[in-house]
Amino acid sequence: MNLRVAWFVTRGLIINGGGRNYGRCISTEAVVGRSMGNGSDFGNFDWRRSMKMMRTMSTASSPEEAKTLTEKDGRKENSSSSSVSEAKKDQGEAVVSSYWGIARPKITKEDGTEWPWNCFMPWETYRADLSIDLGKHHVPKTFLDKVAYRTVKLLRIPTDIFFKRRYGCRAMMLETVAAVPGMVGGMLLHLRSLRKFHHSGGWIKALLEEAENERMHLMTMVELVKPKWYERLLVLTVQGVFFNAYFVGYLLSPKLAHRVVGYLEEEAIHSYTEYLKDIGSGKIENVPAPAISIDYWRLPKDATLKDVITVIRADEAHHRDVNHFASDIHFQGKELREAPAPIGYH
Ligand SMILES: [Fe+2]
Ligand SMILES: [Fe+2]
Repeated sequence: MNLRVAWFVTRGLIINGGGRNYGRCISTEAVVGRSMGNGSDFGNFDWRRSMKMMRTMSTASSPEEAKTLTEKDGRKENSSSSSVSEAKKDQGEAVVSSYWGIARPKITKEDGTEWPWNCFMPWETYRADLSIDLGKHHVPKTFLDKVAYRTVKLLRIPTDIFFKRRYGCRAMMLETVAAVPGMVGGMLLHLRSLRKFHHSGGWIKALLEEAENERMHLMTMVELVKPKWYERLLVLTVQGVFFNAYFVGYLLSPKLAHRVVGYLEEEAIHSYTEYLKDIGSGKIENVPAPAISIDYWRLPKDATLKDVITVIRADEAHHRDVNHFASDIHFQGKELREAPAPIGYH
């Protein structure tokens, strides 16, 4: 009897309120139902179907409308099932993600196995250029250079105190910050391009690529380090402060903003070098590389943490070059669009 009551209460919650919220929380990635980050497969039919129903209900203004939409959707699905299956045959297992008919064709890896990620595609992957000079340093000459350099050195003090040699946590936290400047810079250049009616010279794309690359560093690090609640709280606080500070800083002086990032990247190279030293000495276990990193950097299947940190460090060296270069362009009294943007520079 109690079980019956519990069932009706739960059902009522889902239909009247919970369903709406859940529907909004479900990402297209989840609805598509491909294998997710941990490699587990969420793609069984019943699961997709129930999620689809929740999405329908989230769009509808009333339960009755939701029911009608679902029924219509069901009829449409049945009547067009033969044509859909034909299309599926042509596209090779495309899965309709919603009643909007958005589908993704089957994507495979080079070895023929199914591509497991929705967050990035095979053509966005690359092999890191490990030959890059890690020791390059921009010697601060001008007043602004010195301000940028000192700012970064000052920021390092609380980081050293808080994390000490816990390089996993340190890297995870710093990547949440490192992915901000590219997005802010790219966004501001985008808006500038709209206001001024001119091209950005590719710099919007280059900076957004950097932001995405940094975010992939973070997605890799969270597979290795599970952040604690107070670290998540710290991320929220730091992001709130840093995003706004960088936004204002970039509006006032993009040459200072890019110089600061150039020096932050130099510090990141240093931190990852220390991380590698601790892996080499055995202080940090050289665990197998997360699957996401193997696919993103096209690493060998038996790659380890050491390989991952090595390619991330090479990425940071590229970001260092891009940002010092951007700052130099401004120092020469030019706009970024006047110099070729380093698109795809990893
Ligand atoms: Fe990074
Ligand atoms: Fe970076």
